[in-house]
Amino acid sequence: MLPKVNPTTTRSWAELSILSRESNNTIQDLFQEDPERVNKFSFDVNSTYFDFSKNNVSDDVSRTLIELANECELPRAIEAMFQGEEINQTEKRAVLHTELRSLSTKSAHSELVLTELDKVKKFSNQVGAGEWKGHSGKEITDIVNIGIGGSDLGPKMITHALRPFWKSIKPHFVSNVDAQQLKEELDGLNPETTLFIIASKTFSTQETMTNAESAKSWFLENGGHESVISRHFVAVSTNEKAVNSFGISSENMFQFWDWVGGRYSLWSSIGLVIACVIGYQNFEQLLLGAEEMDKHFRDSPLEKNVPVIAALIGVWYNNFLGYDSHAILPYDHRLRFLASYLQQADMESNGKSVDRQGNSVSYQTGPIIWGEAGTNGQHAFYQLIHQGTKIVPCDFIMIANPEHDYVDHHQKLLSNFLAQTEALLKGKAKKEVMAELKESNSHGHDIIPYKVFDGNRPTTSILIDELTPFNLGLLVAFYEHKIFTQGVIWNIFSFDQWGVELGKQLAKPILSEIQEEKHGAHDLSTSQLMKRYQDMRR
Ligand code: F6P
Repeated sequence: MLPKVNPTTTRSWAELSILSRESNNTIQDLFQEDPERVNKFSFDVNSTYFDFSKNNVSDDVSRTLIELANECELPRAIEAMFQGEEINQTEKRAVLHTELRSLSTKSAHSELVLTELDKVKKFSNQVGAGEWKGHSGKEITDIVNIGIGGSDLGPKMITHALRPFWKSIKPHFVSNVDAQQLKEELDGLNPETTLFIIASKTFSTQETMTNAESAKSWFLENGGHESVISRHFVAVSTNEKAVNSFGISSENMFQFWDWVGGRYSLWSSIGLVIACVIGYQNFEQLLLGAEEMDKHFRDSPLEKNVPVIAALIGVWYNNFLGYDSHAILPYDHRLRFLASYLQQADMESNGKSVDRQGNSVSYQTGPIIWGEAGTNGQHAFYQLIHQGTKIVPCDFIMIANPEHDYVDHHQKLLSNFLAQTEALLKGKAKKEVMAELKESNSHGHDIIPYKVFDGNRPTTSILIDELTPFNLGLLVAFYEHKIFTQGVIWNIFSFDQWGVELGKQLAKPILSEIQEEKHGAHDLSTSQLMKRYQDMRR
């Protein structure tokens, strides 16, 4: 069981409140006071370098945050997760995605995990080698992964991030119940050489099942036949019965288990599409990278524990300084889906307002996660980050060695990454602006206030040697453990998602009413919208 400590009752919480009121240090002051700051606040995990020094965290704050983690019994919580205790209490489940990547150490579910992994290996090898043939004897060229949420965002993010590792198979991802997406993805595909992976933990999600049925119809209407469905449709799920009644045999089903949360499932057979596209060996490297971070998280002291440090800094900002959003800014096109992946991982996990005793919390929990691959954001929303009224802590992520040979591009990308974090730290003082104006012989002193940058905007920099499957696995596991740590401090249950149920529930009667061209008893605005829709609909 997880500890049940209300963080606001701890001594360290009270101390952090005082520190937040009293400290008026800027981040630059902290650098000036301590020439050792960079060394103190940066860490290497394997070949990834984490630099937390440009955060507004003094030594006192840092020490008190570690005390908070101890008072909230974080070390016990970490063990409870790894030991497979039922820490997803409201769903009565253990949380063991770490066992999916526990390749070098034997774990409680090793046998199950390795058997399923072996199935993934054989299948992905067969597809990759062109041995898994479509019904007319042709090799598979395209895979369409149909899933949503955790059954889509993780596989999609990883597959695109590892674009240079693609072998012969082209991936497609369909998640939205808006058929436009399915239509666009199917357009140009040959049913004889297309394989569908229906990925759904529950195998009952409306969007996925609707898309899966439509994909089956497309296949049957374009030369396919019921008798050859098994060559073109496989499933990944925990629900064998539903998979069978959809028409996919158990032989063509890849399993995972209820102790793997949807948003933590890319390491399971939900990663089948990844393995088929980048090859099984690379998929295994992804798991090994995550395992490396798991070991770091489980074994490192809190003050040297990278996910813990990132989480505690986030708690400081969110709960004491009032910074309520967090931007993910990877300076790499391959990581363009990272922010949307982390939106689910973080916001579905920690977007909660009831604590582990069943009481409403009196403090902030999960931040709003958003972001974009650099340098696009610089020409869109960085204005607000630099000069807006809101402070947005940002993670800047950079890959030292790109896969391409365009050195000039890469140097420009790197210089932007560095310049942005420096500008956010230092800003530009009024006297610098005045000096610049003088030097350029410009007049118009009324422009001065607009050209001033306060600086003191916090950033974390993550520098990765190369975007290999191993390093990517390590990065994603870093974020997973950061999210877990914050959930522990906030005394909430991070592994359920009751907040997505109400909308699903209300959509059912509305759908029947729309199908029957009726409108039932709703709030006035909803009823009017239904009526207007029916009037507009041709
Ligand atoms: O509706 C939210 C959710 O349950 C997510 O947690 C999950 O990742 C997604 O839907 C998809 O669920 P499934 O894999 O069961 O189709």
